Amino acid sequence: MDFNLTEEQLMIRDAARDFAQTELLPGVIERDENQKFPAEQVKKMGELGFLGMMVDPAYGGSGLDTISYVLAMEEISKIDASASVVMSVNNSLVCWGLETYGTEEQKQKYLVPLAKGEIIGAFCLSEPEAGSDATSQKTTALDKGDYYLLNGTKNWITNGGTASVYLVIAQTDVAKGHKGINVLIVEKGMEGFAVGTKENKLGIRGSDTHSLMFTDVKVPKENRIGEDGFGFKFAMKTLAGGRIGIASQALGIASGAYELALKYSKERKAFGKEISKHQAIAFKLADMATQIEAARHLCMKAAWDKDQKQNYDLSGAMAKLYAADMAMQVAVEAVQIHGGYGFVKEYHVERLMRDAKITQIYEGTSEIQKIVISRAILE
Ligand code: CAA
Repeated sequence: MDFNLTEEQLMIRDAARDFAQTELLPGVIERDENQKFPAEQVKKMGELGFLGMMVDPAYGGSGLDTISYVLAMEEISKIDASASVVMSVNNSLVCWGLETYGTEEQKQKYLVPLAKGEIIGAFCLSEPEAGSDATSQKTTALDKGDYYLLNGTKNWITNGGTASVYLVIAQTDVAKGHKGINVLIVEKGMEGFAVGTKENKLGIRGSDTHSLMFTDVKVPKENRIGEDGFGFKFAMKTLAGGRIGIASQALGIASGAYELALKYSKERKAFGKEISKHQAIAFKLADMATQIEAARHLCMKAAWDKDQKQNYDLSGAMAKLYAADMAMQVAVEAVQIHGGYGFVKEYHVERLMRDAKITQIYEGTSEIQKIVISRAILE
């Protein structure tokens, strides 16, 4: 077993760290406060190859492994989880789905600009009444011969307002249940497609989350990904990889909060010495460091499984479950170590604590991960 990173992986990690420090850190508090999408920063992420990290260079990607992706996600999430969610959705849900299951025409038309970061994509599964229970899709895509007629509403869609390409999951044949679900590529600007108001969120406030409305949108047949009825499996397969991305985001949020708490604890004095020298704080730091390291190993194992072409449904769900719950705990402790300073915006940890919460909710709540894990171990 070799735990060493390759030269290339170290280089990617350092490049992501530099980018986060120089491009994302300035203005991160203001973007959070004003719910401002990091448009310029996302453009630069595209130019640096962070938006199509694992895509074959033949389709405009960086051709890197999943380990490198985890490393980059961690570094970027330490500083700005609003930027890293754009990265995670574009890489794991949109590019991966298109590259793995798309036709050559779909790849040339959509994957290439998405992987280059010239445009960004969105993954549209959740609905007002179908979040965790993803088979209960109410959005319909009726087969009308050479096109699908798309009607319905999607909720909480990351990149909802800024994306150009949307992978929309919809029910074609109710009688067939989840086997009657399709996934369609919808372009912004298609007649009948409207973007709803932006959500005012607790965390990842710089990211762009909207509901989407589809009213008699005619989507050409050639925009369906995979065989008729493949939509639900597509969503499950895609989310399995997406969970590695969000687990790495949670890992990054936790490491960012921990690093700030560690630094602060060595500077701040109370009762005659640095607070890190009080066992109450030192033990907190010991727990945080251990939890982060455990989450890192789970993320790396899931990434390694994916790179080795092994099944990563279980390892990805375990990584996501543990890393998300851990991120919430670590971020709360980081605020606690900062005391009153932790409660104000300038010290960053209150934002990281708010951002951590979403990792327990999106791409499957912690409870959903336990369903996936328990089914796998009990089967
Ligand atoms: N790979 C391939 N197929 C899979 C699969 C996988 N990982 N998981 C399930 N399936 C298949 C099953 O084999 C089954 O097919 P068959 O009938 O042909 O055997 C089919 O899918 C239905 O599976 P289940 O019976 O297990 O379905 P279920 O209704 O019990 O639900 C679930 C399973 C795991 C709870 C699923 O509904 C789920 O993952 N829910 C959470 C949805 C989610 O993560 N939403 C996130 C939205 S996207 C997002 O958050 C992005 C963002 O903004 C950042």
